[in-house]
Amino acid sequence: MSSLKLRTRRDFGKAIGTAALAPWAAGGAMASPAGTAATGVPSFPANFLWGCATAAYQIEGAAHEDGRKPSVWDTYARTPGKVAGGDTGDVANDHYHRYKEDVALLKSLGVRAYRYSVSWPRVFPEGRGPVNDKGVAFYDRLTDELLAAGIDPWVTLFHWDLPQALEDRWGGWQSRETAKAFADYAAFVARRLSDRVRHFFPINEFVCFIDQGYGTGIKAPGKQIPAGALNQTRHNALLAHGWAVEAIRAAARPGVQIGLAENPQICVPVIETPAHIEAARQAMRELNAPFLTAILEGRYTTAYLSAAGRHAPRFTPEEMKAIASPLDFVGLNVYTPTHIRADRSGAGFAVVPLPSSYPRMASEWLFLDPAVAYWAPRHLAEIWKVKDVYITENGCSSDDRIAADGCVYDTDRVMYLRTHLASARRATEEGWPLRGYFHWSLMDNFEWTDGYGKRFGLYYVDFRTQRRIPKLSAELFREVVRRNAVA
Ligand code: BG6
Repeated sequence: MSSLKLRTRRDFGKAIGTAALAPWAAGGAMASPAGTAATGVPSFPANFLWGCATAAYQIEGAAHEDGRKPSVWDTYARTPGKVAGGDTGDVANDHYHRYKEDVALLKSLGVRAYRYSVSWPRVFPEGRGPVNDKGVAFYDRLTDELLAAGIDPWVTLFHWDLPQALEDRWGGWQSRETAKAFADYAAFVARRLSDRVRHFFPINEFVCFIDQGYGTGIKAPGKQIPAGALNQTRHNALLAHGWAVEAIRAAARPGVQIGLAENPQICVPVIETPAHIEAARQAMRELNAPFLTAILEGRYTTAYLSAAGRHAPRFTPEEMKAIASPLDFVGLNVYTPTHIRADRSGAGFAVVPLPSSYPRMASEWLFLDPAVAYWAPRHLAEIWKVKDVYITENGCSSDDRIAADGCVYDTDRVMYLRTHLASARRATEEGWPLRGYFHWSLMDNFEWTDGYGKRFGLYYVDFRTQRRIPKLSAELFREVVRRNAVA
């Protein structure tokens, strides 16, 4: 049998009464400890963390500056026909030079956290070996700027920009040598930044650089390898995660927190009856068996291994132990739903296909169901007893335009944000352990194979002038953060 097919979002898109009031914000507005803001709208818990997220290759630019060498995304973007409009991340948002302006944008939103990623080929241009001090110095400057603005840096170590040198030398993630090199790089960054950075994510979204990078080939490095090799490549990426967790703990100052930024299929019960809810729980484990479940349980599910048959990954108990190295929190990137119904035959659950009329946002893969922001934390708590959950990404693309008055009225993103936050609020109200929310993204950026054609930002970016313009959604998000409640 072939390897279990993960239904990736792109594949899918193609297929079809207050007590003592306490101050809670710089603005001086008030919320009650009982969870009701002064407006009467239920608020988020008092210490709920609000943030925004970005990734290095999508915003930094300066692709050939200060010693950086290419990543697989530089190569892929240069390959004709791979990225819409032939766009590349060469300049992107020029964040490498404009980071101060961008930190000021974060500050104006009032967020207390920012999730950025470090570019591996900026720090180790060859993937390993000599460190590039100028590259590291950029992350020193950015981190210091954030801290001076009162914003806590949350650092992702790998957001898909694998050094091309490692792809050339070892076939990238097809070799566990790459996983070892990743752990060394992770240890280096943790040693260097953990005097100021207290939260690290080793890897962002396994499916997107493994299944899409080596399976369907719709993301860098654009390969299509056979099922057995793909399952082993998935396993190597899990090892990279586990070894990096161990390496960060050994290298970093005491007390750093390490977590995931994973995008599992978020299994939403098609109707909230006990039978469908139970089916959604089972589906959440099984449909995410290759990555999330393996990390949280330290084993591959029986169904995954038997479906893979002779193509199953080879592994040892020691490796599974490393993969399941204890985490301090679990972050999930929450976008599109997988609807599940109870099914007495077979696995006990079935995926409900979406009708062609199902609403979606500007990206073809991004179907709308705010329930994902509720079920993601609830599943983590119920299935795996996770105590601290973050939504590490959530947001949507929109066909943004600058109106005649110079404003960007992204009312669809406002609707998306408001409904997802209401759903997240339902989770906190019921006591599920959701501790914070990072919006994807701070500003429009290089959206991988969509190039600059799809916009996810709270700030509109004019890529000819690099001007940043706050959208209506930025105003909404600022208000949400200020009230600590859905606005
Ligand atoms: C998230 C990624 O899954 O989705 C981001 O972590 C990405 O890097 C975002 O920009 C939107 O995805 P896409 O494929 O539409 O650019």
